[in-house]
Amino acid sequence: MAQRKPIVAGNWKMNGSIELVSEISTAISKYKNEQVDVIIFPPAPLLCKAAESGVNVGTQTISEFDSGAFTGEIEAKLAKQLGANYTLVGHSERRAIFGETSEIVAEKFAKAQEEGLIPVLCVGETEKQRELGETEKVVAEQINAVISKLGIAALSNSVLAYEPVWAIGTGKTATPEQAQSVHKFIRDMLSTQSEPVAQALQILYGGSVNDKNSKSLFTQPDIDGGLIGGASLKADAFVSICNSAL
Ligand code: G3P
Repeated sequence: MAQRKPIVAGNWKMNGSIELVSEISTAISKYKNEQVDVIIFPPAPLLCKAAESGVNVGTQTISEFDSGAFTGEIEAKLAKQLGANYTLVGHSERRAIFGETSEIVAEKFAKAQEEGLIPVLCVGETEKQRELGETEKVVAEQINAVISKLGIAALSNSVLAYEPVWAIGTGKTATPEQAQSVHKFIRDMLSTQSEPVAQALQILYGGSVNDKNSKSLFTQPDIDGGLIGGASLKADAFVSICNSAL
């Protein structure tokens, strides 16, 4: 079985400050040569500052378009020049609040790779969809939109994040067993198309991860780290989450 290096990523959403960049970058500088990759996704205005502080950074979204008359959008090429290595695509808040369909997300995924950014594809079901037993169908549809556009091989240069919508910012974390079952479903689904891609893909869990529950989630066989929201804004909690991935 492929050895997958764990990732702990902090999605700051529209939070943070110049001061927080200094505080968090100092706190996580010790992970440079560790057996975990730590990534920060600050809001776009803090991207440069975060990149300059030496941390591994990404954007929370990018435009699917090249430069042009797209007021307010983030160009992938520019983000790369400014030091970003990754970008989230398809976070549930982008899908729900900003109307991003799975097809648009697939275009953003493609643009990210074209410009040398590693896309972190976020997928997950709503509470209603889980109650209706549609979790696997929803997650498969979100992933298949990318595969139909770009082929299975495109996933070998990406990261996946399973973030059940009902667990985001609610304090209702998926149990390790619930999360593992969806991660395993994803890996099994991908392995029908390419075993090497499926085995090498890092699949992160996101949704109310904190310093108390991270270890039990990260030790599941198909969970390769986490995408952390609220708890990534507190240096102590974030550091202990990073430690739990070692
Ligand atoms: O992308 C991270 C995320 O949506 C989870 O947020 O605050 O529940 O950890 P949170």
